[in-house]
Amino acid sequence: MQTDNQVIVDGLTFEPYLTRDEIASQVKRVAGEIARDYAGKKPHFLCVLTGAFVFASDLIRETGLNDSNISFIRYKSYEGTSTTGSVKQIIGLTDDIRGKDVVIIEDIVDTGLTACRMIEDLKEQGPASVRFATLLYKPDSSQTGFIPDYTAFEIPPKFIIGYGLDLDGKARNLPDIYVIKEN
Ligand code: IMP
Repeated sequence: MQTDNQVIVDGLTFEPYLTRDEIASQVKRVAGEIARDYAGKKPHFLCVLTGAFVFASDLIRETGLNDSNISFIRYKSYEGTSTTGSVKQIIGLTDDIRGKDVVIIEDIVDTGLTACRMIEDLKEQGPASVRFATLLYKPDSSQTGFIPDYTAFEIPPKFIIGYGLDLDGKARNLPDIYVIKEN
């Protein structure tokens, strides 16, 4: 359900937080940083499903890196609005990334557990390099000290939906980003 400003999902109320224009402008900035760092290279983008598919789609188009590849991987750690603390790989990587410059594209870094687990798994497959791009980063939630190489927005440790991010699978379609309303 959506009223003028608020969105209600599973009985929880969310308020507007980042508009589509603010998102587009930061996605463009990050894409520019990646385009500069990978000029003349053929990066292999690895989109982390499901939440990052919207960000990845906008980001890779903005980079203008026409020789890049993209594939998909899936990990799961969240249930409802909080982390379960254990990270499970749900869909593995089918492409060969040996010798490739991999750029992981993630929707959000919260505890950092998923990011660390993913990088550990990928490094076993012998890529030339691995960097990490995220739309959102919650530095105050970190349990790992992990810092992304590319970040569109640093945000406080609050639950967010929209632009690919979900609450139990819902609200990914929202073009803007919303934050949970505190009582
Ligand atoms: P981490 O392993 O704790 O860093 O969490 C990473 C994953 O948790 C993300 O890929 C999301 O799927 C999920 N997540 C963390 N914070 C949020 C949030 O605020 N909204 C929606 N999903 C979140």
